[in-house]
Amino acid sequence: MLNIVLFGPPGSGKGTQSNLLLEKYKLEHISTGDILRKEIACKTDLGLKAKDLIDKGLLVPDELIIQLIEGQLTKETDSNGFLFDGFPRTIEQARILEDLLLKLNTSLTCMLSLEVDEEELMRRLLERAQIQGRSDDTPEVILARFKEYTHKTFPIIDFYKNRDGFFAINGKGELQKIFETLVELIDSVVEKSA
Ligand code: AP5
Ligand code: MG
Repeated sequence: MLNIVLFGPPGSGKGTQSNLLLEKYKLEHISTGDILRKEIACKTDLGLKAKDLIDKGLLVPDELIIQLIEGQLTKETDSNGFLFDGFPRTIEQARILEDLLLKLNTSLTCMLSLEVDEEELMRRLLERAQIQGRSDDTPEVILARFKEYTHKTFPIIDFYKNRDGFFAINGKGELQKIFETLVELIDSVVEKSA
């Protein structure tokens, strides 16, 4: 199986690059943000619990995320593996992911970390706000999301960075060029392990 974590701050291009990678490698997309937004739209209990936090730019508790992820990973699928977008976001989630993959007799192939400065992230998210109107794309909430990322999510890089398959990538520039870099890195890891 090919299991990839696409990591990075809000607006770094995780969703955009995921869409390109999914098509190329035939992977199952596991975006916890997208799943939560669907739960909110369907007004489920979990969605109602998550909405307040998301609208404040705060992370949703690990227990809720783990419930969501377990369900997704145990579904029947004919894909080649999983592409995680926006997960894991805490050390606890990183540990849970390891355990879940182990249970499925597989492991993480690589972690690709998109690096973009906050000025550019803010510019992209405010531009997206005008088109998509996501409720958490306001200047105050974006700043809160950056803060959560810095304090709780960025530190999980330490969990991965000394392992094979961790790569930091410049996420600024042309979409297609960034995609090509990601593909080269993924293919190099796959070749090495073949
Ligand atoms: P989530 O939906 O994951 O949002 P996020 O991490 O804040 O990231 P975004 O989706 O905003 O950005 P992205 O990196 O996908 O970038 P995109 O490709 O869209 O999470 C939302 C919330 O849900 C969280 O705040 C939290 O509350 C909760 N949550 C989710 N997962 C959780 C978890 N595991 N644990 C706890 N809570 C969780 O690009 C952004 C914009 O930039 C787009 O308009 C795009 O067109 C543009 N763009 C992309 N690439 C480029 C480029 N190279 N150049 C110029 N523009 C570009
Ligand atoms: Mg996204």
